[in-house]
Amino acid sequence: MGKMRVAVFASGSGTNLQAIIDADIQTIEIAVVFTNNPDAYAIERAKKHNIQVEIIDHKNYKTREEYEKHIIKVLGPYKLNLIVLAGFMRILSTVFVRAYKNKIVNIHPALLPSFPGINAGRRALEYGVKYTGVTVHFVDEGVDTGPIILQSVVEIKDEDTEDTLLEKIHEVEHRIYPKAIELISSGEIEVIGRRVIKKS
Ligand code: GAR
Repeated sequence: MGKMRVAVFASGSGTNLQAIIDADIQTIEIAVVFTNNPDAYAIERAKKHNIQVEIIDHKNYKTREEYEKHIIKVLGPYKLNLIVLAGFMRILSTVFVRAYKNKIVNIHPALLPSFPGINAGRRALEYGVKYTGVTVHFVDEGVDTGPIILQSVVEIKDEDTEDTLLEKIHEVEHRIYPKAIELISSGEIEVIGRRVIKKS
């Protein structure tokens, strides 16, 4: 099997993109970094590693569907096998999800199905849970609802603030996202219903 051609989607700082680059996963090639945000630091990270960048600002499109159709067109020539959402802060509609059916993964800063959506770290802290964590999952047509690939727990201590918690969450993310991508790209896992399991 050849290397999987991967697009990493990032809207901001791109520390997860960096972790994926640094992990030097032998079963993938990062064909392109995609962003909706012309100011994303992720762009600099990609350029530093000679990775192609595509910037398409959602603000220039009237509807989500119109925006996503354009992304699909631009990404076509890259012949992608996997889309990795790494801090991509736009919800993807059925238009995009169907175009890359079962080929999109996301990382979420909580133990799904708890705290889906934005500001998951802060909301876990405010809710008072003692444990939160990180989830890597396939993307389906809901928001943070797809089959779960990997999860890892982060303990919330009394002295934690939003900043210290997010720092701990990031550390865990940078460890488990490359691991999940490696599992997918080496063909070691399969999805049966909602369950993602090791192939026997
Ligand atoms: C990460 O913590 C990721 O889990 C989160 O955004 C951050 C991006 O950081 N994603 C979401 O909240 C998705 N709803 P990064 O740009 O440094 O990788």
